[in-house]
Amino acid sequence: MTLHPPVYVDGKTGRSLILVGEPLANLRRHTAGRRTIVVTDQNVKRHWKHLLDGLDTIVIGCGEKYKNLVTVEFIYDQLINRQVDRSALLVGVGGGIVCDITGFAASTYMRGISFGLVPTSLLAQVDASVGGKTGVNHRGFKNMIGVFSQPEFVICDLELLSTLPAEEITCGLAEIVKHATVCDQKLFAFMEENMDAVIGRDPEVLARLVHRSVTIKAGIVNRDEKESGLRRLLNFGHTFGHALEKTTGISHGRAVSIGMVLAARLSQELSGLPAEATARLENLLHGLGLSTRLPVPGSKIAQAMVLDKKRKQNAIFFVLLRAIGQGYIHQIGLKSLQQWLAR
Ligand code: GLY
Repeated sequence: MTLHPPVYVDGKTGRSLILVGEPLANLRRHTAGRRTIVVTDQNVKRHWKHLLDGLDTIVIGCGEKYKNLVTVEFIYDQLINRQVDRSALLVGVGGGIVCDITGFAASTYMRGISFGLVPTSLLAQVDASVGGKTGVNHRGFKNMIGVFSQPEFVICDLELLSTLPAEEITCGLAEIVKHATVCDQKLFAFMEENMDAVIGRDPEVLARLVHRSVTIKAGIVNRDEKESGLRRLLNFGHTFGHALEKTTGISHGRAVSIGMVLAARLSQELSGLPAEATARLENLLHGLGLSTRLPVPGSKIAQAMVLDKKRKQNAIFFVLLRAIGQGYIHQIGLKSLQQWLAR
């Protein structure tokens, strides 16, 4: 596997080095002799046992229901029992949930120790592991408790994707389409032209998509780490997507996919996006095996948009499109959005 040029995020809490194509087996090169504790989950531990053998490991439960403060306390307890001090390094090896929890536990244990991430899902490689958002859910609200804190390094080993169910790859592709749709029409066209290779998981094509996605995201985070402006672009499809996920329980990738199509339709009305652009987006998502149609009436998901971190009083920073590759942020009243959805 080709090692792509390194990508850097320069955040307030430090510089993050992102390596696409670097094998997990090279982890020790990045831990620089420090005491290292790996946080992983039961699934990842089972699949990649041979790569984790010999490493001091904390194993947490699998799935969203473990993404909470109870699991964070469990990690703190394990670190205290092992007398881990501030010079140690925590490394999260797993999907988005493991990455978000590890980052949060590391950033708060003893007021913050260093951490690195080895994302094992496509979604985590192109989104969760990059940009320093860490945290957990709280009382049913997604990512309600957390901090911005940059990992020291992110290792995107494409080999780790080989054990993923097809559905997980499909869902990760939604976030790559998101990056392309808001910022990079060339990447969008590349995905359209290489649809078969993408679906067939051609390793070189997937690595290129991951590297381009990570580069786009790092470029945005470098200009707006704490999401006070430009970074909101990365929420394209997520206002409707999160509400849909919450209401119906469908996966994040599928919900965001439908959310992006809805946002494109709204863009047709509010910013004159040509219908042809929405059709291209729908075709690409559909071709990749993603969902594009609401499975429930819009009125059902309108209610779930009430508590959204993208909200400022009664307005939401909503991401619209002028064209493929040209997203922009527009404040829309919560009520207007709910009415548009419900009509
Ligand atoms: N997932 C969007 C962001 O990291 O800003």
